[in-house]
Amino acid sequence: MKLELMTITRHELIAHKIYAMTLRGELVKEMKEPGQFIHIKVPRADLGLRRPISISSISPETNECVIIYRVEGDGTRVLAELPVGSEVDVMGPLGTGFDMSVVEEGETAFLIGGGIGVPPLYEVARQLHAKGVKVYAFLGFATEDAIILEDEFKQYAELLISTDDGTYGFKGNSIDLMNTIRVEVEPDAVYSCGAPGMLRAVDTIFKDHKAAYVSLEARMACGMGACYACVCHVQGDETNELSKKVCDEGPVFKTGEVIF
Ligand SMILES: Cc1cc2nc3c(=O)[nH]c(=O)nc-3n(C[C@H](O)[C@H](O)[C@H](O)COP(=O)(O)OP(=O)(O)OC[C@H]3O[C@@H](n4cnc5c(N)ncnc54)[C@H](O)[C@@H]3O)c2cc1C
Ligand code: FES
Repeated sequence: MKLELMTITRHELIAHKIYAMTLRGELVKEMKEPGQFIHIKVPRADLGLRRPISISSISPETNECVIIYRVEGDGTRVLAELPVGSEVDVMGPLGTGFDMSVVEEGETAFLIGGGIGVPPLYEVARQLHAKGVKVYAFLGFATEDAIILEDEFKQYAELLISTDDGTYGFKGNSIDLMNTIRVEVEPDAVYSCGAPGMLRAVDTIFKDHKAAYVSLEARMACGMGACYACVCHVQGDETNELSKKVCDEGPVFKTGEVIF
């Protein structure tokens, strides 16, 4: 983990309230594991806490990475106004990402994503495809206007999209969509990121799978394991006292490991 003033080399609106920001800097050399995040200092004095945003793709050849974020509150609103050429104070990469070693060439992986949980799965798709893994991506969005990274995923995965309102693709959620394929294909690995309800479903369906992973979100402060702001509870703990820190022991956990 390092700190750096990274430079914005590209910044654009890609869907309703959703921006893709490309950052250049030496920190990119540290980024290896998809699912890790960076902790960004918002350049406004009254917004003290850094904001965690997942790394969506890594390009070591240009020292660039892309983050994709949705404007939620003041912090992301300030970020959205930063022009190309600005410097951003970044800490990272942070957290434990997805284990890419569990699946081999010729095997099959399922990526299950929802909404703004989709971006970190894009680098997963790229790295699995490069290994010769057959990738199925099941991506769910609220509506057609919220769809992101469709063309990008198509390069590396068999892509299936669902929308809650049926305005594009399968009508329903990404779990229902995945279940239509699961009757024929048994995945060797499962990687997921999205809303808690979706992750809970993945956790239940793949509870005993040897290589199934969920990426959690939690409100964070330090982002590096020191303040315990981000703890979640552990499955099967009768004392209800055991916990894990989402920022450094996660955000990615094996299914069956934590309680949502
Ligand atoms: C590990 C991790 C990775 C993340 N990756 C992404 C990403 O790739 N793209 C993206 O758009 N967002 C991501 N988030 C969520 C993002 O950090 C929050 O949306 C952001 O911090 C909100 O800041 P704000 O100042 O704009 O909003 P605030 O004013 O702080 O909050 C506005 C709203 O966002 C909610 N919120 C704030 N922080 C979080 C949080 N950490 N998790 C969930 N809800 C939150 C609040 O409850 C509130 O409703 C991630 C969060 C974590 C923990
Ligand atoms: S945010 Fe401080 S321990 Fe996780």
